[in-house]
Amino acid sequence: MLITIPDVLTKEQVAEAKALLESAEWVNGNTTAGPQAIQVKNNEQIPEGHPIAKQVGEIVLRALKQNPLFHSAVLPLRIYPPMFNRYAGGQTYGTHVDNSIRQIPGTPVGIRSDVSSTLFFEEPENYDGGELCIDDTYGVHRVKLPAGSMIVYPSTSLHFVTPVTRGTRLCSFFWTQSMVRDDGQRSLLFDLDLGIQRVNREFSESEAGLATSIQFTGVYHNLLRRWAEM
Ligand code: NI
Repeated sequence: MLITIPDVLTKEQVAEAKALLESAEWVNGNTTAGPQAIQVKNNEQIPEGHPIAKQVGEIVLRALKQNPLFHSAVLPLRIYPPMFNRYAGGQTYGTHVDNSIRQIPGTPVGIRSDVSSTLFFEEPENYDGGELCIDDTYGVHRVKLPAGSMIVYPSTSLHFVTPVTRGTRLCSFFWTQSMVRDDGQRSLLFDLDLGIQRVNREFSESEAGLATSIQFTGVYHNLLRRWAEM
């Protein structure tokens, strides 16, 4: 399930984040790639644990905390500290799959990557290329979002970034361990949640609407109880 989460950050937050990120020291992105990914990866990153990565990461995490769509779609249990990458001058990242298990640096905590997220910091018209292409059972989806918007997709997907041939692509990316590891189960819960929200919005005045909402909310929680791992 691919879901676009619009306006995770306001334009002001994007501007603040970009100014901070531009002042950081960037290094070759291969420092965090596995042995296979290293062969296809050509970009720059801010080193993990860098004070600026932490500072901007906090802005991102605070915004996610207040984002109901992210919670409904991802059902986050643990979020890896956001990382940052940039591509320019033809840089690209060939087809790969993200590592399944990651240890949060400086902690004994491991996370299983269930959901991958990419948050865009640059407006699409400011660079050519740099599309995130995600392979799923319905084919390849090409994603290039406005600054401040984010795509979430199953970490099981093969994906790649097309070469950036003009300007600079600047993004944050990170992984989430979901309470519900299976993408199909998460999709069902998300659809059910959207349905409940719609009933609440459009039929809240009627007694039947209220009864339907209560019944479906019960089903939602009982499915979550059945499927959630903590
Ligand atoms: Ni990746």
